[in-house]
Amino acid sequence: MKAPPPNLSFDDLHPPVEDFRAAVLDGFARRPRRLPPVFFYDARGSALFEAITRLAEYYPTRTEIAILRAHGTAIARHVGRDTQLVELGSGSDVKIRVLLEALRPRAYVPVDISREHLLRSARAIARDHPDIAVHALCADYTRPFALPAAPPGARRAAFYPGSSIGNFDPDDAARLLARVAALLGPDGRLLIGVDLKKDPARLHAAYNDAQGVTAAFNRNLLARIRDELGATLDPDGFRHHAFYNAPAGRIEMHLVAARAQTVVINAQRFDFAEGESLHTENSYKYDVAEFTALARRAGFAPREVWCDAERLFSVHCLAVRNPD
Ligand code: AVI
Repeated sequence: MKAPPPNLSFDDLHPPVEDFRAAVLDGFARRPRRLPPVFFYDARGSALFEAITRLAEYYPTRTEIAILRAHGTAIARHVGRDTQLVELGSGSDVKIRVLLEALRPRAYVPVDISREHLLRSARAIARDHPDIAVHALCADYTRPFALPAAPPGARRAAFYPGSSIGNFDPDDAARLLARVAALLGPDGRLLIGVDLKKDPARLHAAYNDAQGVTAAFNRNLLARIRDELGATLDPDGFRHHAFYNAPAGRIEMHLVAARAQTVVINAQRFDFAEGESLHTENSYKYDVAEFTALARRAGFAPREVWCDAERLFSVHCLAVRNPD
């Protein structure tokens, strides 16, 4: 194996498997049963998500990349150069590479729960950008964590791509963004990708792709529970179900029991009736005004927003609002 590039450092704050066990036992015991989507992202889940981002039906990734490419200069003007750039949930390599070219930060801190995926991408970026200090942080960014010190005089900026903010209920999203504002500090900037409300048929197709990759991504959560927690459980006994809940403004993903069955985790039995569902993900969609209001609530001042011509996706630049 090649030596790691000298400008790369790594901190492993991956939560222990016991956290996964506790969340699964709690979520299975609830009514309706549910699991937090952060557990989708083991090595296989991250690979499946990457495959989703390449699907014809899944427009968010390529649309966000096109927005970043089209507006790189304006984005750099609003975010500033010479920053410590933190990426929350380091997703597609392509996005961050476009941004690194546009922003030329002094330091780059990718934060991701998926260790292998994070390290692979951080190594490649450190090699291709020897002038940028890359500090990879394997962590669940939905929990409190500390950032490495910023280079002297550098402003902190965060990039939160992919509309991952949509995977939180709006109140939790506002709480998470308020914590991001505190992490960034008084002069901080946040560049955040947010999926827009649109024709439900388009949304439906994006979460019910013809090749079944999204279904495999959803079911992988059950394979993880079986393999990592030693559960007695057949992932094929559940089917993928995703739909747009218009009143709530969100896609919901569920795993629905195809037949009556009992799942055993840690000697605890969970009886599923046929058709009973395990709610695995929400993906909220916002219009620009709705998201701007949420950002204000979290302590940010909106600076600029860029959308594609079809208004499928938005990228907002927000500034941390200084206390009055
Ligand atoms: C990561 N997140 C923003 C994706 C989404 O669209 O909510 C996860 C995903 N779930 C199904 N397809 C993609």
